[in-house]
Amino acid sequence: MKRETIEQLKNTASITVLTGAGISAESGVPTFRGDNGLWKNFKAEELATPQAFIRDPSIVWEWYDLRRRLLKNIKPNTGHFAISEIERCIKDFLLITQNVDGLHGLAGNKNIIELHGNIWRVRCVSNCGTRVNKEVPLKDIPPYCDCGSLIRPDIVWFGEMLDEADLRKAYNGIRQCDTFLVVGTSGLVQPAASFPIMAKDIGAYVIEVNIEATTITPFSDEFIRGKAGEILPLLADIIAGR
Ligand code: OAD
Repeated sequence: MKRETIEQLKNTASITVLTGAGISAESGVPTFRGDNGLWKNFKAEELATPQAFIRDPSIVWEWYDLRRRLLKNIKPNTGHFAISEIERCIKDFLLITQNVDGLHGLAGNKNIIELHGNIWRVRCVSNCGTRVNKEVPLKDIPPYCDCGSLIRPDIVWFGEMLDEADLRKAYNGIRQCDTFLVVGTSGLVQPAASFPIMAKDIGAYVIEVNIEATTITPFSDEFIRGKAGEILPLLADIIAGR
């Protein structure tokens, strides 16, 4: 790690973190674009869309039901816990995650934006409301609301708008931070992919942790190659002054 990065982490007053599927990989959650990225020959982009749901709600729900079954007994890993420790050390802290698995909350983070939603929430397509649903496996696929309409995962699909309040809060976090830490994302899905670049433009020090270089790497002040579960505890140690 560069001397400059260590000094930055020791002296930082505000940190914004962006995470992607890579942080949950060591908990056993498959990433979207790695070797295990395909399901029944479908890519995430072919299933996580309103069009796919209109065409075949059962196949989309089967995929989410499988992911929910996988997630049911999965626990946060040392990478998630390190980010929650960083939040305890730094008052001005924001975590923006693209993950829908809820593991950051389980690890103890409080100030979280779940940019793409949460797999344990569902909502009626007729807007009857959003609720938590932890039934695993789902009894009925696809599930229906009492009003007779389909129920869908409360996830922001490709082609859908992100929540405006979430975006506003994310942009504030990007504007205000002096350190921007990006972990385990391929940087292929917008707008999250542009967050580290915006942070860099505004003057933040950008640190990327990933097992391989990404579209974000050229914009990072330091790219640390390695597993999130191994690297993040080292960064948390520096921030905590150990
Ligand atoms: P991807 O699957 O595209 O990328 C995962 C990234 O994690 C890759 O860059 C890997 O190199 C890296 N990685 C894997 N294991 C790692 C480890 N142990 N430590 C550190 N890095 C590791 O996932 P995302 O970038 O999160 O959206 O994908 C973005 C969005 O596309 C997702 O939120 C999802 C998906 O389709 C929706 O479903 C709406």
